[in-house]
Amino acid sequence: MTAPGALGTVLLGIESSCDETGVGLVRVTGGAPELLGQALASSQDEHARFGGVVPEIASRAHLEAMTATVHAALADARVTPGDVGAVAVTCGPGLAGALLVGVAAAKAYAAAWDVPLFGVNHLAGHVAADTLEHGALPTPTLALLVSGGHTQLLRVGDLAGTISELGSTVDDAAGEAYDKVARLLGLGYPGGPVIDRLAAEGDPAAVHFPRGLTGPRDSRYDFSFSGLKTAVARHVEATRRAGLVVQVPDVCASFQEAVVDVLAAKTVDAATELGIGTVVIAGGVAANRRLRELAQQRCAAAGLQLRVPRPGLCTDNGAMIAAVGAHVLAAGGAPSPALLTGDPGLPVSVVHVC
Ligand code: KG4
Ligand code: ZN
Repeated sequence: MTAPGALGTVLLGIESSCDETGVGLVRVTGGAPELLGQALASSQDEHARFGGVVPEIASRAHLEAMTATVHAALADARVTPGDVGAVAVTCGPGLAGALLVGVAAAKAYAAAWDVPLFGVNHLAGHVAADTLEHGALPTPTLALLVSGGHTQLLRVGDLAGTISELGSTVDDAAGEAYDKVARLLGLGYPGGPVIDRLAAEGDPAAVHFPRGLTGPRDSRYDFSFSGLKTAVARHVEATRRAGLVVQVPDVCASFQEAVVDVLAAKTVDAATELGIGTVVIAGGVAANRRLRELAQQRCAAAGLQLRVPRPGLCTDNGAMIAAVGAHVLAAGGAPSPALLTGDPGLPVSVVHVC
């Protein structure tokens, strides 16, 4: 049931939790939100020489890009400010200074346009991105959220409010492991896309790397990737000490196989054990070609339906934030208070702050 008055509302979403300034526009419909347009500015190139995101640089870049990105998204959606009926913004989790810029901008637009403001959860946004492409999610859905900062298995009851965590990484996130391994191989930042590309030319069976937390007594829905990262570092050191050349494509392929094998296995096991028939994989690492392929094979074999958004909707963007806002608005959720602030540690169970 869509809340009275919500139907047809155009919602502008702002994302600024890390190194992407994203703005998206969606329309509330009787089903999943409709994507109208979006724009993205990235400070990734400015972080590359540091091998990871520098928070101060990210905040400054958001500040410089925000207004132009809002204008570009409105133009892309062929929408004028007068058409916008609500604003949504990522208020966590993420980098404190980066969140601050998005929240301040969203408050300013909401006040200037005299429309309600919804502070929403970035992680819920990654899952909601899929509804823009594949329609409403069945209840419940099992979500694997794999990004640079998070790796979690989630039970999604409804995107407007009931998301619970079944398990998460006990150390590094999957994307973080890609970024750290890329750094130690001298491949730059972000590591995911380049390792994805190089792995396609390598042999995934060349080096056997460990699969974290897959022993019989290990926590079934939790993940660990720091041992894998150390194993890659040891392999590289030992190869160099032996006077041999590191076979970078083989190391990439073998590392990637260890990551996606664990992600796919735990996700399929959780869905099967909990009797959940639909799986969504979301977040930046969901753009990975091998993860998409292996998860598809294993879900099909287990009789599960797999949904993965197109790569451009997997990495951070504003449309996914507008999508959560639309789900909350459609369910009759209350707007956020005027004193809304960013919360770097916002738990995934808090889909919107009110
Ligand atoms: O969701 P996201 O854009 O930002 C966060 O919320 O963290 O995810 C970024 C992460 C980075 O660690 C990046 O290396 C990884 O997603 N990533 C990938 C791929 N594209 C981005 N990892 C593996 N394969 C990819 N194709
Ligand atoms: Zn993200």
